[in-house]
Amino acid sequence: MTDESTIDVHGVEHAYTHGGVVEPVLHGIDLTVRRGEFLVIMGPSGCGKSTLLNILGLMMTPTRAEQVRIAGCETLGLADADRTRLRRESIGFVFQRFNLLPTISAWRNVALPLRIRQQSLDGRVEAVLEQVGLGRYAHKKPGHLSVGQQQRVAIARALVGRPAILLVDEPTGNLDSANAQAILALLADFHRQWNQTILMITHNENLAVAADRVLHMRDGRLLV
Ligand SMILES: Nc1ncnc2c1ncn2[C@@H]1O[C@H](COP(=O)(O)OP(=O)(O)OP(=O)(O)O)[C@@H](O)[C@H]1O
Ligand SMILES: [Mg+2]
Repeated sequence: MTDESTIDVHGVEHAYTHGGVVEPVLHGIDLTVRRGEFLVIMGPSGCGKSTLLNILGLMMTPTRAEQVRIAGCETLGLADADRTRLRRESIGFVFQRFNLLPTISAWRNVALPLRIRQQSLDGRVEAVLEQVGLGRYAHKKPGHLSVGQQQRVAIARALVGRPAILLVDEPTGNLDSANAQAILALLADFHRQWNQTILMITHNENLAVAADRVLHMRDGRLLV
């Protein structure tokens, strides 16, 4: 691990167990992402991309791993409370299925990470909603927004706390190509502005153009 690495994992393996059946999904992932890098991982459905991202985002612990260093901290063996704190402080996550809270407005969804961290809002919610082009829609609940707008709320929520690491799971899977390009431009803008480390998963080759580096994944392995 160097100071320049924000993600540095070795030997990550994962298997899901359901109904007594074990399904191995990740087979020894080694991955180092430099600070400020915009990395894209591409691969077919079911190859384990979301599983890997969930592990890197500290939503899940792998079945086995030699090292899972995130934001300069070895997370293997960390107590739950410390993992949660590290996740809240250092990671923004845009989920494949958005995971917006349906009963509260876009504004409240975006404010949530700051409230959880007891940070002052200080106009930041309005600013980030404006930046994703949703200033006028702040009062609306997710169900009353288009899918592309919901995706932008999810991005605003992930970015409002200016995390060092942004993990983005298939941000344009449900969007037409114009909206997909708009989302990509938005991520590229934020990347330029704050030099965040971004790791984005996508099926869409057109979206890989903004990346500093593209890796391909097949059957639970990163191809070299
Ligand atoms: N919570 C879970 N419980 C059991 N099996 C799971 C779970 N999540 C994923 N899997 C299995 O793990 C494998 C990899 O799933 P994953 O969601 O990581 O793939 P993916 O590459 O993100 O696919 P997609 O591009 O369709 O989103 C799949 O075979 C899936 O059935
Ligand atoms: Mg997925």
